[in-house]
Amino acid sequence: MSEEQATVTIRANGSLRIKGAQLIGADGEVIPTEESFSLCRCGHSDNKPFCDGAHRAAGFEHPGTHNAPTE
Ligand code: FES
Repeated sequence: MSEEQATVTIRANGSLRIKGAQLIGADGEVIPTEESFSLCRCGHSDNKPFCDGAHRAAGFEHPGTHNAPTE
C-alpha cells in the first residue's frame, strides 16, 4: 500500500474512485484490489462492490458534490 494519504473521489454521475486504501469486506477479510479502484454508488453493478460501468446504462445522475443538510 502507498505511503500517501488515501483518497476517495466522487465522480459525477458515476462511481467512487478509491486510491491507496484497503477494502475490507463485511466478513473482515481484505478484498484484493489494485492501488486504485472504483466502488459502485448507483446500485446497478453486477460486480458489487465494484463499479462495472452499469451506471451509464442506468442513467445514474448525481453531480458528485456534497449536499449540505437543510434545516
Ligand atoms: S457506479 Fe458504476 S455501476 Fe454503479
